[in-house]
Amino acid sequence: MLKNGIQRCLLGAQLMKSFSTSCQADSKVAVLGASGGIGQPLSLLLKESPLISQLALYDIAHTPGVAADLSHIETRANVTGYLGNDQLGDALKGSDVVLIPAGVPRKPGMSRDDLFSTNASIVRDLCKAAAETCPQAMLGIITNPVNSTVPIASEVYKQAGCYDPSKIFGVTTLDVVRANTFVAQAKSLDVSTVNVPVIGGHAGVTIIPLLSQTAPKVSFTEDELPSLTERIQNAGTEVVEAKAGAGSATLSMAFAAARFCFSLLQAINGKEGVVECAFVRSDLTESPYFANPILLGKTGMAKNLGFGELSDFEKQRVEEAMGELKSSIKKGEDFVA
Ligand SMILES: NC(=O)c1ccc[n+]([C@@H]2O[C@H](COP(=O)([O-])OP(=O)(O)OC[C@H]3O[C@@H](n4cnc5c(N)ncnc54)[C@H](O)[C@@H]3O)[C@@H](O)[C@H]2O)c1
Repeated sequence: MLKNGIQRCLLGAQLMKSFSTSCQADSKVAVLGASGGIGQPLSLLLKESPLISQLALYDIAHTPGVAADLSHIETRANVTGYLGNDQLGDALKGSDVVLIPAGVPRKPGMSRDDLFSTNASIVRDLCKAAAETCPQAMLGIITNPVNSTVPIASEVYKQAGCYDPSKIFGVTTLDVVRANTFVAQAKSLDVSTVNVPVIGGHAGVTIIPLLSQTAPKVSFTEDELPSLTERIQNAGTEVVEAKAGAGSATLSMAFAAARFCFSLLQAINGKEGVVECAFVRSDLTESPYFANPILLGKTGMAKNLGFGELSDFEKQRVEEAMGELKSSIKKGEDFVA
């Protein structure tokens, strides 16, 4: 029996490493936006999983080529490509998990919210099709701004009459992956043993790493706390600037989304104690959606594990995030209404 949320989180982090040796299952995963910077490496990582028997790749461009290429890899998942709206229903049919990285990424100087005008309608339309075709599937939303696109997905499912908040997740795993990496570097730790829960949302100040709950327990100086927190919050921008106009994080995001998907699939297939942080419908704070460690089960979120005792520094960060979180969520909800 696991003792607390931190240990459960640690188990989630370890799943990525153990998936390839774990049991076989017959799940179908659909990737919507599969030809993109995230979609292609994500599909490659998924193709390696023994838990996936069918991998459906959907995009408005290039999927025949991406699918043909991946289909030659000697692993069990049967890969099929679907191109354009007419083939979206077939891509989604029978899916257990739908991952959405479709949409435009940031360029230098842009915030995630600047993507809203383009990405909101893309996510809305893809979610409409998913709600119609595979309403029972788990939905992992990668497309930014996640703080708005997850509420968009929820409103679409409500309108379709099949809303189940335990099945809709904003994928914030990259924030945890980054926090683990940066803390391990700063403290000279073996990164495979480090787990930092990250709560709040997925944009700027709404990304709140709980450094006080880092496992294994480490202490930070007064200078380290704000500087590490800011680096984790701005890590996406670090990549956008380094790529200088060629997009945002794709490879690390593909890793993070694959980790989240494998955790979902492990839980769907009966593994107990699987925990990941994700941005979900929540009544823990005054924000109607909030990211923190979630216990995953056969039908989605089995339990919201909350975020435990926060330090004064973290409490202040949560307070600071509330305004932006609530307005981004409302923007998403209003868009669908
Ligand atoms: N959640 C996170 O932590 C995180 C991290 C990095 C990037 N992102 C977001 O992921 C999204 C994708 O980033 P990327 O770098 O892969 O972008 P990209 O431009 O390389 O790829 C996007 C893909 O989406 C496809 N697409 C566009 N409209 C579509 C539609 N209606 N249906 C299906 N496919 C469609 C495009 O053809 C393209 O192949 C962006 O919104 C980015 O901000 C999220």
